[in-house]
Amino acid sequence: MRSLDEFATAKLAELERGSLRRTLADTTRVTGIWTLRNGRRLLSFCCNDYLNLTHHPAVKDAASEALQIYGVGAGASRFVTGNHPLYAELEARLARWKDTEAACVFGSGYLANLGIIPALVGEDDLVLVDELAHACLWGGARLSHATVTSFRHSDVGHLEALLKQQRRRHPRAVIATDGVFSMDGDIAPLPALAELALRHDAWLLCDDAHGLGVVGGGRGANFVEATKADITLQMGTLSKALGAYGGYLCASAPVIDLMRNRARSLIYTTGLPPAMVAAALAALDLIERDPAYSARPVEKAKAFARQVGLPEPASPIVPIVLGEAEAALAAARLLEEHGFLVTAIRPPTVPRGTARLRLTFTAQHPDGEIERLAELVRAHMLTQSPASVAAAQ
Ligand SMILES: Cc1ncc(COP(=O)(O)O)c(C=O)c1O
Repeated sequence: MRSLDEFATAKLAELERGSLRRTLADTTRVTGIWTLRNGRRLLSFCCNDYLNLTHHPAVKDAASEALQIYGVGAGASRFVTGNHPLYAELEARLARWKDTEAACVFGSGYLANLGIIPALVGEDDLVLVDELAHACLWGGARLSHATVTSFRHSDVGHLEALLKQQRRRHPRAVIATDGVFSMDGDIAPLPALAELALRHDAWLLCDDAHGLGVVGGGRGANFVEATKADITLQMGTLSKALGAYGGYLCASAPVIDLMRNRARSLIYTTGLPPAMVAAALAALDLIERDPAYSARPVEKAKAFARQVGLPEPASPIVPIVLGEAEAALAAARLLEEHGFLVTAIRPPTVPRGTARLRLTFTAQHPDGEIERLAELVRAHMLTQSPASVAAAQ
């Protein structure tokens, strides 16, 4: 329809003017760290494959074997015929790893949050969300039709003030935060949030998509000594450090049973392909067996931060905030010319004026390449204005 195409074209032009238009680039990941793009071999510093398990032989073998036994797709929702036997095993393993009574695996991390929050709260209720929480926590909060309020990033005092003001007006309340923040790499003040949640009878939902496998001995942000906390709703993903695909919630047995009865993004969608569940199981085996390997991405991130003089990171994610979108795009192009793949992160993924390179460090990144990357970042991105990054190309 003409009006529809006109609308789409005008929207795209607006995005283009702000350097905010996104495009897809064919990328072949040939190993856990190396990629091929536009015929060039690039070392990726922007994948969430923190332990490089997407290409681990044991993980690939487990997926292939499951594919041969159970077929490619699950065939139906888990509540019809899609609940292949690997699910029970993975859910038991996740619950044990996160020290909860039970777990429930969803189709993805995004789908998990879209299902969890509306299953717990509705239009009379309250959801308090960290302002920098991931889009899918916001999505789940809005889908619930509850009153949704944001609190300043990791600001326990602000959250407490909001709870004092608003909590008594609502029968139920959820506090939603990332564990490891996806774009900044910092860890939420989980013990203080858990204490506030308890005191105000609010349910704390922690999305630890970027914590599982890499912090807290591989068990996540709420197992890190400084942020050890009892979290009632521990959500995460199988798609990052585990190298597979899918999402999960670890919680008490009644909460998990409620999810199976009320979470629409679990009930009304096809179960995960069996190969993905098998891959996640094999990845968990590796993580449980080798905590030293799990610690490597954070060690590499710390080494990089030392070399460029940035504060010590708490996770494998190190942001280099450059300001405007064009500056981040220019910095990404410069790194690509030197053989590094680091995608520019722009609004609305991050707040306006904070476009950045989001570097992610993984277990197998060679130390020499990290040094080379640090030199480039030091020379072009920390000491010079965004305009001079563009000029250096
Ligand atoms: C904090 C956070 N939560 C959830 C997700 C979504 O997980 P998935 O990729 O499994 O849908 C992401 C992925 O980008 C994330 O960064």
